[in-house]
Amino acid sequence: MGTYAVTGAASGIGAATAERLRRDGHHVIGVDRNDSDVTADLSSAAGRSAAVSGVLERAAGRLDGAVLAAGLGPGKGRERMVTEVNVLGVTDLLDSWRPALAAAGDAKVVVLGSNSATTTPLVPRGAVHALLDGDVDVAVRRIRRRMGVTGPVAYAASKIAVTHWCRQRAVADDWAGVGIRLNVIAPGPVMTPFLRSQLDSPNGAQVRAFPLPARRYGTPEQIAEWIAMMLSPAADSLVGSVIVVDGGTDALIRTRDW
Ligand code: NAI
Repeated sequence: MGTYAVTGAASGIGAATAERLRRDGHHVIGVDRNDSDVTADLSSAAGRSAAVSGVLERAAGRLDGAVLAAGLGPGKGRERMVTEVNVLGVTDLLDSWRPALAAAGDAKVVVLGSNSATTTPLVPRGAVHALLDGDVDVAVRRIRRRMGVTGPVAYAASKIAVTHWCRQRAVADDWAGVGIRLNVIAPGPVMTPFLRSQLDSPNGAQVRAFPLPARRYGTPEQIAEWIAMMLSPAADSLVGSVIVVDGGTDALIRTRDW
């Protein structure tokens, strides 16, 4: 049985994934702001560093996989926190855990993206580039120029950036070349506290109005099943892929993008 780090393990998709992996007999090291094996705030450099070391101590130098599910949704005035948690809360951790993942020989990593990355208009590319350069200040300045839609734009920019980062790393010699499989899952709306807070926010009407061909929200348990598959030997050839599980919104909006 393997050892897996799961961020965001206290709620929603991360909690369902941790539960799914534990049911299969794996050792799960949860990371979250509260109620987890490693308590760390991923919105600060110190918190990310605590998450890195807390997991490495418990994993004894070898990780069979990781699931990066900690994330924050759009919210007025929290552009910086969203980008720090959703981007640096993935990239800083994975870069530091890479040697432990390589030590496993066939580790698998799943990062939570979002279909917001492909369905949100007005995302400034310059903000995404700044995030990929690790320059949160510049990214936030560029996002704040999109007055009126800064919350959704910050969220989408964070998910585009983290997806690009994963696809770049996934094919590199020190990732794919040493057996690490790094992939992204991009859900649409999944009924978790995250979605509940979006539905209850002043933007709730817009969230409800977003086209959803399947006409029902996903569940965290369903996403956990997809993640379990992406962590299994069935995913040995899955490298830098983005698996969209979103009730059809992306296909509806981008029908001809294939
Ligand atoms: P959730 O809100 O139920 O769980 C997120 C977890 O992340 C929480 O336990 C929270 O404490 C943790 N977290 C947030 N900020 C943190 C910080 N600063 N430090 C440490 N932990 C922190 O959300 P859900 O729905 O399970 O989301 C998981 C991931 O899936 C997120 O990355 C989200 O962007 C993504 N996603 C969710 C969708 C949805 O509709 N629920 C749709 C598309 C993507």
